[in-house]
Amino acid sequence: MRGGTGFPDQVVENVFLFIAAISVSILVLITFLMIYFTIRYHRKRNPTPEDIRGNLWLEILWTVIPTLLVLSMFYYGWTGFQTLKKVPEGAFTVKVMARQWSWLFEYENGMKTDELVIPVGRPIHLLLASQDVIHSFYIPALRVKQDTVPGMVTSLWFQAKEVGTFDILCAEYCGLQHAYMLTRLKVFSEEEFNRWYQEKEIDLKEIPRGLRLLQEQGCLVCHSLDGTPRVGPTLKGLYGKTVVVITDGRERKVLADEDYLRRSLLQPNADIVKDFPPIMPSMQSILSEEEIVELIRYVKELR
Ligand code: CUA
Repeated sequence: MRGGTGFPDQVVENVFLFIAAISVSILVLITFLMIYFTIRYHRKRNPTPEDIRGNLWLEILWTVIPTLLVLSMFYYGWTGFQTLKKVPEGAFTVKVMARQWSWLFEYENGMKTDELVIPVGRPIHLLLASQDVIHSFYIPALRVKQDTVPGMVTSLWFQAKEVGTFDILCAEYCGLQHAYMLTRLKVFSEEEFNRWYQEKEIDLKEIPRGLRLLQEQGCLVCHSLDGTPRVGPTLKGLYGKTVVVITDGRERKVLADEDYLRRSLLQPNADIVKDFPPIMPSMQSILSEEEIVELIRYVKELR
């Protein structure tokens, strides 16, 4: 068994199986010896207790064997870690942005999606960043996991062996909706992927820009477009409505006009809509002025 070569999923699996096999063997051995000694040295068979004075060979054995076992685990872990960190040349790069509480994938051609779509049999290199807190990007099926840390870019690579759909999770508790950071990895065949890669580009141009921004920025995790309340109030019919908000601890009514929408985007905690938690991040440094205008225009039309 080689820990240090192959693809990340194999490497991680090999190391895991190696450590599990050693652990299970030791568990079985110790359990067997415990039971054996209990019977063998039972009071009935040994009425007079005996004092045992050291045994040099036994002590050497139980020092050397565990040391070798632990060092071999370290060796496989270390060489495996090197494989995980060494991104093959020519890998397909995708940028991943994590934020409370969704993922955004950005491809080399500038396209953005909320599900990760990749070609089969090609090394994929992910560059991960976070907009807010620490998240952890996790694909159980491919045995890879990597923290995303605000203020730095982390990296991860893997290669999918088969076509299919797999789960992507957030493996680090990151707030109220942590469990909603669930999305999919879609592995397409090379041709299917190329078709998708080009078509999706055209597709995206047909979706209204405001809606695309809502999707890309992960707004829809908390705000629905169909009237159902989620963590945040729905955006449907919001414009022109009278909203009850808490401002500086006092309840008041405001008209949801353009100013209100803009304030909600830039200073989301200035007026908190009643019965909702004050958890929305400010879009101040995230959206450009032009994007804010587009977003507001779109929300205004959601009757
Ligand atoms: Cu992001 Cu948990």
